[in-house]
Amino acid sequence: MTTVAYRAAFFHCLRRPESLLDSAAVEYLDDGVLVVTKGCVAALGSASEMLPGLSTNVNVVDFSGKLIVPGFVDCHVHYPQLDIIASYGEQLLDWLEKYAFPQEQLFCDRAVAREAAEFFTDELLRNGKTSALVFATVHPQSVDAIFEAALKRNMRLIAGKVLMDRNCPADLSDTATTAYQQSKALIEKWHGRERLSYAITPRFALTSSEEQLAAAGRLATEYPDVYMHTHLAENRTEVGLIAKQFPWSRSYFEVYDRFDLVRARSVFAHCLHLDDKDLNTLSAKSAAMAFCPSSNLFLGSGLFDLRAARNAGIRVGAGSDVGGGTSLNMLHTLGDAYKVLQLQGQSLSAFEAFYLATLGGAVALDLGDKIGNFVAGKEADFVVLDDTATPMTRRRLGMAGSIAEKLFALMTLGDDRSVNATYVAGQKAYPAG
Ligand code: GUN
Ligand code: ZN
Repeated sequence: MTTVAYRAAFFHCLRRPESLLDSAAVEYLDDGVLVVTKGCVAALGSASEMLPGLSTNVNVVDFSGKLIVPGFVDCHVHYPQLDIIASYGEQLLDWLEKYAFPQEQLFCDRAVAREAAEFFTDELLRNGKTSALVFATVHPQSVDAIFEAALKRNMRLIAGKVLMDRNCPADLSDTATTAYQQSKALIEKWHGRERLSYAITPRFALTSSEEQLAAAGRLATEYPDVYMHTHLAENRTEVGLIAKQFPWSRSYFEVYDRFDLVRARSVFAHCLHLDDKDLNTLSAKSAAMAFCPSSNLFLGSGLFDLRAARNAGIRVGAGSDVGGGTSLNMLHTLGDAYKVLQLQGQSLSAFEAFYLATLGGAVALDLGDKIGNFVAGKEADFVVLDDTATPMTRRRLGMAGSIAEKLFALMTLGDDRSVNATYVAGQKAYPAG
């Protein structure tokens, strides 16, 4: 059967909500029906309107009592770093040396990469994530492994081979030439295949020679619809070293700009230490940011200024940044985002939080025409949330009067137990069977 209907409560964003009063930006249906045809959204409406019009041979899957939202989008995550999540005691640069680089060295082994990619994609789905922008390692086989796992699950996923040729272990180092050649071969192999896209992935400016950044920039210009994904201005020591390594550059951000790496479909993770000029150029060139609150807290990196990004008109999505981040669960990330903004006297409404996790992430990844909400014609990626999954969520959400209060309590108290099921392009992907 190519048409299936789902009955539940529904929440999605139609655009970025300015506030909790901006009811035109969101749609909430207490008792709704989502009709899915051939993996795409055909219609969403209230059950009373929709059910009488449904053909009798359309199967109605009943999730009454549950809340369906669009699939979560993780805008920055490292699949090879799963096994170093929750590693003690360091800030960024020491953490990379002590934990991340030794772990990534293991991914020269295709079998290690495959096992990790399988586990990772299953974990994404178990946490309600149907799309992600993913770092692999410097090894091309690590990129094959993550794309093969995503292809098998029909996920909309973007990934790329890490480029680095200095300030890293020799066996994680490529060159400007191999960075260019291997990335190009991977683009030709994977970009645009099913729901997969490629991202040119220089790790960060500290680990690339100018020749390598120039090679990445050439590729980014040759393939404008391929993504560019890197880290930017995460940690103050890192920012200081960038100033020494690129003394000709006015700022960290301008290093990337000099090498033609700032354009639409460029996504910069972190962006904690930028000035107004950087923000204005980022905005003018239509680049996007990944806000990674859990990682920024865990690595002691700093506080993301969402208000400044919004005022500059920059697209922002939410990233887990696992293994610097401490959870693949989007509800945890949203809860941390709220706290990071509280520390700066800013607020994050539940509507804006769920926007960041869904349509906002999709828009940041230039996928707003394909995923992120239940507008007819979009790919039917969605999560079935259960607010009774734990005694505390059952108790607290049971008392919530409005959908805003429910969503806020869920992003503060929820976890993987809140995810009852995840659907990818209209097919149940979690739980299996
Ligand atoms: N900057 C360069 N590499 C990394 C990484 O692996 N994780 C984080 N959080 N920041 C980085
Ligand atoms: Zn990262």
